[in-house]
Amino acid sequence: MCGIVGYVGNRPATEILLTGIKRLEYRGYDSAGIAVVDGGGIHLLKDRGKVRDLVEKVGAEWPAELREEVRNGIAHTRWATHGPPNAVNAHPHTDQSGRLAMVHNGIIENYVDIKRQLSAKGHVFKSETDSEALIHLIGEYYQGDLLHAVCAALKRVEGTFGIAVMAADQPGTIIAARRGSPILIGVGDDETLVASDAAAIVSHTRQVIYLDDNDVAVVTADGLEICDIDTVPVSREIASLDWDTSAAEKGGFEHFMLKEIFEQPDALTNCIRGRLDTDLGTAILAGLALPPRELADIGRLIMVACGTSMNAGMVGEYYFEDLADLQADVEQAAEFRYRNPIVSPRDMVLAISQSGETADTLAAVREATERGALIAGLCNVVGSTIARETGRGIYLHAGPEIGVASTKAFTCQVAVLLMMALKIGRCRRLSRHRGRQICEDIMAIPDAVRNVLAANDRIAKVAQVCAKADNMFFIGRGYMYPVALEGALKLKEISYVHAEGYHAAELKHGPIALLQEDVPVVALALDLPGREKMLGNIQECRARKAPVIAVVTEDDQELSEHADQVIRIPRTCAMTAPIPAAVALQLLAYHTARIRGCEIDQPRNLAKSVTVE
Ligand code: F6R
Repeated sequence: MCGIVGYVGNRPATEILLTGIKRLEYRGYDSAGIAVVDGGGIHLLKDRGKVRDLVEKVGAEWPAELREEVRNGIAHTRWATHGPPNAVNAHPHTDQSGRLAMVHNGIIENYVDIKRQLSAKGHVFKSETDSEALIHLIGEYYQGDLLHAVCAALKRVEGTFGIAVMAADQPGTIIAARRGSPILIGVGDDETLVASDAAAIVSHTRQVIYLDDNDVAVVTADGLEICDIDTVPVSREIASLDWDTSAAEKGGFEHFMLKEIFEQPDALTNCIRGRLDTDLGTAILAGLALPPRELADIGRLIMVACGTSMNAGMVGEYYFEDLADLQADVEQAAEFRYRNPIVSPRDMVLAISQSGETADTLAAVREATERGALIAGLCNVVGSTIARETGRGIYLHAGPEIGVASTKAFTCQVAVLLMMALKIGRCRRLSRHRGRQICEDIMAIPDAVRNVLAANDRIAKVAQVCAKADNMFFIGRGYMYPVALEGALKLKEISYVHAEGYHAAELKHGPIALLQEDVPVVALALDLPGREKMLGNIQECRARKAPVIAVVTEDDQELSEHADQVIRIPRTCAMTAPIPAAVALQLLAYHTARIRGCEIDQPRNLAKSVTVE
């Protein structure tokens, strides 16, 4: 959840490191720090606040030679787990001697034991973090061989880590290692970078090596050598990042979130491209890598996911039931492995994760693997842990998602789930004719989204109502029920307006007690099956004086007359409607947050990619 950058090479490191963590700030942004290493030792600066505060501090407090001459270092942007965000708890942390510095992502679960044992030997800990225990342990083993010291310490550690460690007496070397928290190494000309995320290094090199769990890398300007935790050499392939560097820029938009909302027609086009066989009326999803007979034979589909990805999976439930006659259930990934999930070898467990690093989803994948299910992944980040561990799966091709609130990943997840249901459906009972119709409907999605984006100004006006509210409800039925959940999640996470998503029929079973004139209700009332019932639900809300914002099909005049505010979206088929409807709610959340003056790309307490349980 935090961001790590390391640099060894022939260019001044400070600026590269600070720019690198700036690009990772979406992963954590409560404190930041940097350590550069030269013949004079380790020079460390860290504080509470954003990376821009650190940049100012470096400018004000570091002499020119540290800013412009030192060629090696590590840096970190933090999302606090152990200990509040402050200068002492910020990374890098140093060992007892002050000769070693480390940045760490993940959680050292046995840090209390380690601290107790080391305290008995005279170690004094400055911070409340778990990370400091690890660097002290490495220091305890360090006698000039940093690789051996790191490996020895990691053998005693329980929990997860992605780390980069430097020693004052070996300024040109970084030891990087991972277990459960991603680390990749960027290989450039006479320089090598370490990062927790490609965004930090893509402007320097596209040649990367992803470390596997328990890999330890000795990184120098000339390249790297990788071994396992017993120092036995291992080889890992170099991969090429297919990122456009502009992906990590806002490209003229005020926020990454808005940019990514507006990227959706292109993201969806990329996601769909080459994946539809309009003649056979099916989808081509090579990554699923199962023969049609086996796809037809799947007993049950269990989707495991968190947050927005789970909401996408809920839309998927309807697709698999409607198109493939396949029982499909979404499980909260965090619960999956703590229950006794009943999975048979004919069941497929599909992990849905934008980042491919979410700890709970990864744990669910491992649980399902142990239980012998077929496993598949639906990820956006290429080379991510879930994508690699599932082996079989489908990438979204949505492009990097930097905004903490997931937008384009959601709509592409829904599109992929629809294509997957189409493919499985065609292996089961779905007719070619119906398959062809669905292909047409899928191809129309990007235009429908364009149409919604054209209503941006109108939606911004509707957001004035939401911006004044403290509490809101989002209601829907059928395909629009998960969209209501997603709309409420989006609103609360970036605008801090308390919002709940409900099935429209559930409102009467309790929550209706909260309706009054200052509690707006967003009613997803498209001209789809259930419209009449939605109309009834809208009347119930208005009878309690709750202002209703209705999301309606563009030509549905009648329904518009029953609402206080209207957002119109184009007429599409029922199955693709969740996508334009979700885009409208993304814009509603965005503008609400903007009017309320919220930090949209860095909402409080959140971080992109939740790599701790
Ligand atoms: C909300 C949001 C989160 C993520 C969740 C899962 O906008 O982004 O709810 O959807 O943390 O993340 P991934 O999809 O990376 O597994």
